[in-house]
Amino acid sequence: MFDFFKKHNQPLFEGLCDFHNHLLPGIDDGSKHVDMSLNMLKAYQRLGFSSIIPSPHIYQELYPNTPETIKKSFQELTKANHLDNVPVIHSYSAEYMVDESFIRNLENSIPKLLLFKKYILLEIHIFGNTQHLERACFELSQKEIVPILAHPERYHCLETIAQFKTLKQKGFYLQLNALSLMGHYGPEVKQKAQLLLKSGLYDLLATDAHNTQNLEQLFSLQLSKKQGLQWEAIRDFQLDLFRV
Ligand SMILES: [Fe+2]
Repeated sequence: MFDFFKKHNQPLFEGLCDFHNHLLPGIDDGSKHVDMSLNMLKAYQRLGFSSIIPSPHIYQELYPNTPETIKKSFQELTKANHLDNVPVIHSYSAEYMVDESFIRNLENSIPKLLLFKKYILLEIHIFGNTQHLERACFELSQKEIVPILAHPERYHCLETIAQFKTLKQKGFYLQLNALSLMGHYGPEVKQKAQLLLKSGLYDLLATDAHNTQNLEQLFSLQLSKKQGLQWEAIRDFQLDLFRV
């Protein structure tokens, strides 16, 4: 394996905004308490990220967060954080589970926790299907909100290049979990992530970090020369899209 970025002396995540992570303490399956979040921030600093937008789960069955619970956790963390402003915890959003409840709410209102007032981070059940996604896509397009599908490589129902292309044609941006390329979610997810990367189908990348270990793992991420070029293209696109 050729270490593309070490050779080019450039950290993989330099200057990026990590818009998908579970940094906020105590409100989902991510950071358990403020000290853990502060440790995560130190790892973020070393990885080279310039900003972070925490995105806790909003998932009625397991993590029924609201803008209020998220705001409270965000305030708790920012009050305790005395790092020298890098990375900046820019604001907060959410990772919305697309289920019956999400669709119902979407019909009557606009989701409150958007990214840059325009994008929304979505996930589906790992063993779910794309039916709700299609419905959500229609409703979101009516509201001029752009959907970002978190870690498409992780879903069992999405396997073929044609399926991913269809989602993109419908307006979805596809977000790579960097850990997928390291086999963190198993060899099949890794293989799918490699295929999507090679095929140029990812638009965005993020850590989806749930703890400090997840971030520390990323220090060992290595890419082939070809993967490195695809990664750079994603990074440039993302830097442009999320200019803060
Ligand atoms: Fe996540």
